[in-house]
Amino acid sequence: MRTLIVLSHPDPNSLTHAVAARIADAAHKADPAHEVEIADISAEGFDPRWRAADVAAFRKEAAPPADVLAEQARIDRAGTLVLVFPIYWWAMPGQLKGWIDRVFTNGWAYDERADGKVEKLLGRLKVRLVSIGAADEDLYRRRDYAAAMRTQIDVGIFDYCGAPLLSSDRLLPGEGTFPETALERAGEIGREIAGGERAAAE
Ligand SMILES: Cc1cc2nc3c(=O)[nH]c(=O)nc-3n(C[C@H](O)[C@H](O)[C@H](O)COP(=O)(O)O)c2cc1C
Repeated sequence: MRTLIVLSHPDPNSLTHAVAARIADAAHKADPAHEVEIADISAEGFDPRWRAADVAAFRKEAAPPADVLAEQARIDRAGTLVLVFPIYWWAMPGQLKGWIDRVFTNGWAYDERADGKVEKLLGRLKVRLVSIGAADEDLYRRRDYAAAMRTQIDVGIFDYCGAPLLSSDRLLPGEGTFPETALERAGEIGREIAGGERAAAE
């Protein structure tokens, strides 16, 4: 089984990179046969800009551009997709949002049919979300940012495409020593990935 961890962060010393590495390391230690690929779309230079070729693909007038097809193939090779991202303005970073906009195409992630119905096409893809922020959970609750993010990302993107969301964690400073608490949870997520995938294979 394979897991693809996608992140977008220009600093390899960031907490985002450390969390992704801890997830991969823990999954590999728990099940050495489990392959984990970390894809840093920032280092890879993925272009998040929505262009005429993406419009044509959205309208089903043309196949998606080659970089989009390559990302879709990489996701298709994995049973589990993990997005690890810093929270910027109570949302995911722009490059990662552009990656979703371009890669989760009409016809691959979902299908807008002629009768107006939307078919969910990603039932085969297990998803885990790991966001990292600097504000505390109390602020997320008081200002409804927690609900807004859940509605937009968990439901608005992944439920829309029918991808089962196995976990959605927000790693924030709070009780305990941060970022150790974040890295501990990342280790648990890695072990959950390895354990869950192994159970599904048995
Ligand atoms: C442009 C920008 C916007 C941010 N917006 C938020 C925010 O809305 N909520 C929050 O909790 N933290 C916010 N932060 C803090 C980052 O989430 C935090 O610094 C980051 O997750 C730390 O991890 P890193 O070392 O991987 O960058 C923001 C940081 C930046 C640079």
